[in-house]
Amino acid sequence: MTGYFITFEGPEGAGKTTVLGILQEELSKKGYDVISTREPGGIDIAEQIRSVILDKNNIKMDGRTEALLYAASRRQHLVEKVIPALEEGKIVLCDRFIDSSLAYQGYARGLGIDEVFSINEFAINGLMPSLTLFFDIQPEKGLTRIGKNDEREVNRLDLENLSFHQKVYEGYLKVADRFKNRFHSIQADNSIEDVTKEALNIIEKHLNNK
Ligand code: TMP
Repeated sequence: MTGYFITFEGPEGAGKTTVLGILQEELSKKGYDVISTREPGGIDIAEQIRSVILDKNNIKMDGRTEALLYAASRRQHLVEKVIPALEEGKIVLCDRFIDSSLAYQGYARGLGIDEVFSINEFAINGLMPSLTLFFDIQPEKGLTRIGKNDEREVNRLDLENLSFHQKVYEGYLKVADRFKNRFHSIQADNSIEDVTKEALNIIEKHLNNK
């Protein structure tokens, strides 16, 4: 495959979705062939799975069921959207991927990072991102930011308490340490302009070194 698979990770309210949108435009203007997508979702079947996972009424959902549903939606999204784009040589910017499962389900839910990694290995069948941008923000700050954004949907995971979100953050630090080669941290409480500039530099360096 000739494209570049770049993932965006971080706790709630880190601003990664906003920055991803701006980066897609910037990279397109510079002449790169780039698409953006998100997890869970990005294509019809995966969006349907997303609505089951994130439905605020599904309070009975078991942690392993949740992890398996994320992995299932990941598989379908890869097959239908990510792999074809990479085969056409495109840059794929993806809002969340496997590291979200490792941090949220593996660490914060307590299912085990190794256990969740292994079900995801089955789902992704070797397709790891070549670069992952980690939007680093303290969970308290991130949650305050999303609290101020009236347009954002509130989902089942947003309703978890602060200690869950603190664990997600700790989980990300563990995952970042494990995958040092592809992880690049960005201080996400800087201005959107600064964060975007830094992300763009990291991406362009990556594209030029490959
Ligand atoms: P979003 O708010 O970034 O669209 O993501 C939806 C929620 O799903 C968010 O709370 C993070 C969570 N999530 C997981 O718990 N595991 C995963 O594997 C993914 C992709 C997302």
